[in-house]
Amino acid sequence: MDELHTAVSGRAATAPRAPRRVVVGVAGSIAAYKAPFVIRLLRQAGHEVKVVATESALRFIGAPALAAVSGQTVSTGVFDDPAAVEHVAVAEWAELVLVAPASADLLARVRAGRADDLLTATILATEAPVVLAPAMHTQMWLNPATRDNVSVLRGRGLTVIEPDSGPLTGKDSGVGRMPEPEQIVSRALAVLRQPEHGDHDAVASTEVTGSLEGRHVVVSAGGTREPIDPVRYLGNRSSGRQGCALATAAVEQGARVTLVQAHVASDLLDALPPSVSVVSASTAREMLHVVREAARDADAVIMSAAVADYRPVTVAATKIKKHPPSAPDHPGEPSTSIQLTSNPDILAGLVKDPPRAGQIVVGFAAETGDGDGDVLFHGAAKARRKGAHLLAVNAVGEDLGFGDVPNAIVVLDAQGAEVARGQGSKLEVARLLIRLTADLMSGS
Ligand code: CTP
Repeated sequence: MDELHTAVSGRAATAPRAPRRVVVGVAGSIAAYKAPFVIRLLRQAGHEVKVVATESALRFIGAPALAAVSGQTVSTGVFDDPAAVEHVAVAEWAELVLVAPASADLLARVRAGRADDLLTATILATEAPVVLAPAMHTQMWLNPATRDNVSVLRGRGLTVIEPDSGPLTGKDSGVGRMPEPEQIVSRALAVLRQPEHGDHDAVASTEVTGSLEGRHVVVSAGGTREPIDPVRYLGNRSSGRQGCALATAAVEQGARVTLVQAHVASDLLDALPPSVSVVSASTAREMLHVVREAARDADAVIMSAAVADYRPVTVAATKIKKHPPSAPDHPGEPSTSIQLTSNPDILAGLVKDPPRAGQIVVGFAAETGDGDGDVLFHGAAKARRKGAHLLAVNAVGEDLGFGDVPNAIVVLDAQGAEVARGQGSKLEVARLLIRLTADLMSGS
């Protein structure tokens, strides 16, 4: 589609050079039904896979299915074949241990150093990198016990992939859903490609490392609507998904989050972590007021909303009629026009006159290439014009940028220089941006 998309996906698509030996652990969660897809993707990429399932995993998915897709028998207990000392053999064989799904119970047992089944014993005994893809209900994921387990495991060098937000088992929806197999496999192989694991062709990691405990982050999301009359407005196609993903990613890092939403669909708002405080703004001028008010004690403001640059000079009090009617001697429809006036630039105003001294200001730039230059050319010019600490530039087109589609961004500083780039789901992109924002807050 354009240079940005090609460059970003080209980097992420880098494959490891040699086939690897991967232990796929499967724990007891309904998401175990996705494990065969993870195994199949690894094998399609040329890697050798051994499956180790917990007893409870086998209540959700049958051993024959896992054996068929992996091409190997499936082990569960340390006493299946005591003479083979399987947990040591499997642990030594592994170049990577990937647990997908990892249940809350599995995380707790790994944190405690338990070895009461083959999977936990293998994790305890291996020297290979361990990647865990959690899947559980939102309340279990947000429970302080699980938060604590995750932070201890990360501190020990294990990779815990952040779960996605979305529909869970039953009627509920929220954070805790296992990411899609493609994302899990790509994250796990990226861990293998990190220099400490023997490959210097590492992809940029989107792992969130900065802590936002005690910080207040304001995020704007959605698209403003500028009324023309009581039934019509000037709007745009922004869904608000990226802003909701940013709010979720900031909560994951312990931030207090205020989401200023303009016309974001209620299912997206319902899926937000419960701690997010949501305030509404409809027009650009309302958003200006609400964002600045919320930002008075904020450490960072992230403007992901699509704010209308113009609004009608006058808003009709009653519905505008098709008027004047076509004259019989002029059969075509009469043309009409709406006079527009500029809206305030909220982002530029936050930079020039911050509601709180020292706060970090982050903007987005949805761009298309044209005769004057490509997406990055326009993005860099906007970065210099707006002066935000960070500007996330993304290309918009038919299948990129707006709506429920993956996103690719290049992050620029106030001088228009590239700071980072990444692509993936909106949540992955959000995590990258939140990490960069947290880094700026901590002065690193
Ligand atoms: N923005 C804003 N107030 C506006 C317009 C945009 O705060 N009145 C913010 C957006 O939230 C985004 C950034 O500015 O973070 C860039 O928005 P964009 O629409 O790409 O830029 P514009 O300044 O409107 O430039 P143009 O439409 O000419 O590309």
